Amino acid sequence: MPTNSATAVASANIAFIKYWGVRDPEYTLPYNGSISMNLDSCLTTTTVAFDPSFAEDAVLLTLYDQPQQPAAGRPLERIVRHLDRMRAMAGIAWPAHVESTNTFPSDAGIASSAAAFAALTMAGSAALGLSLDERQLSRLARQSGSGSACRSIPTGYVEWRVPDAPFAAELWDEESYAVSLAPPQHWALADIVAVVDAGAKKIGSAENHRLAATSAYFPTRLAELPTRLEATRAAIMRRDLEQLGEAMEADAVSMHAICMTSRPASFYWSGATLDVIHAVRAWRAAGLAAYFTIDAGPNVHVICAAPDRAEVARRLATLPGVQFVIANGVGRGAQVL
Ligand code: DP6
Repeated sequence: MPTNSATAVASANIAFIKYWGVRDPEYTLPYNGSISMNLDSCLTTTTVAFDPSFAEDAVLLTLYDQPQQPAAGRPLERIVRHLDRMRAMAGIAWPAHVESTNTFPSDAGIASSAAAFAALTMAGSAALGLSLDERQLSRLARQSGSGSACRSIPTGYVEWRVPDAPFAAELWDEESYAVSLAPPQHWALADIVAVVDAGAKKIGSAENHRLAATSAYFPTRLAELPTRLEATRAAIMRRDLEQLGEAMEADAVSMHAICMTSRPASFYWSGATLDVIHAVRAWRAAGLAAYFTIDAGPNVHVICAAPDRAEVARRLATLPGVQFVIANGVGRGAQVL
C-alpha cells in the first residue's frame, strides 16, 4: 500500500448526556458538555488515499446491508469539506479516494456520522502524514460538523467538555475536544439498540441543533446540566448503574423535550419508541436493571450491565415494534489499522 494511503476504524458512541444545541455552527461548538460510551459493534472502517494522479475526489460508501454506492449531495460535500481541511493542514492539494464501510444502519439515531467522521479523520490525517495527538484528532473530528465524532476518537467512556473560559469562537475552537474518562475494561456495560425503524431520520441533527435555543425550556436544560454531568462522571467512576441510569434517562427526556418545544417543533419518537420505554421501565420495576436513552431518531438504546445483556436483548427482540436489536459492549477509541 502506498504511504499516502491509510485505513482506520472508529466506533459509534451513545451519549449518556447529550450534545444538543450548537453555539457556533461554523466551528461546531456546543452549549454544554456531553458524556458517551463507544459502541463496539457499530463500526465504520475507512480507507483514504491521496494521489496527484487522481482526477477528482471520489467517495464510495457501503452502508450496512446496501450495495456499495458513490456518495453524492450533502454527505459528499461534508466529506470533501473535511478532506479540504486536512489537505490545508498538510499543505497538499492531491485529490482523494475514500472507501467506507458501516456495520450498522446509518441515520437512524445511532450516531453513524460520529463513527464516519472519526474514521475519516484518523485515516485522512495518517494518509497525509500529519502527526496529531489524540486531543488534536478529537478537535479535528469535531470540526467536521458532526460534533459527536470528537467523542469517538478517545477510548471507552468519553467526555467532551466545554471550555472554562467565557465564550469566544476562536478560543473555544482550540479548547473543545473530548477525553477518555475510563477505558472499556473499567466497567462492562452493554448497550442493546432496539431498532424500531432502520430508515433515515426525517429531520437531521444539524438543523435541530440550531433550533434548540428557540425552546423556552433550553435555559432550564442548560441550568440542570452541570449537576447531571457531575452525577454521570461520578457514576462511571464508581460503576453505579442506578445513578448513571437516572441521569441518562432524565437527559434523554430533556433533550427530546427541547426538540418537541423548539420552533418549529419536531418529534423523533414513534409509538414503538414509547412502547420500548414503557417495557424497560416495567422490567426495571420487576428487578432488571436496564435504562433507556434515545438519540436523534426513534430507536431506543438500552443500557445494562454485561451479565444482563443476553436477557435484555432477548426481551427487546420479542417486543412487537422492534425490528431487530444490535448488542454492543464498550468500544475502543478510533485506530489506524
Ligand atoms: C442526539 O451533530 O454530533 O446524538 O447528527 O450524527 O451528525 P450527527 O451528530 P451530531 O449530534 C449528535 C446528537 C445526539 C446527541 C449526542 O450524541 O451527544
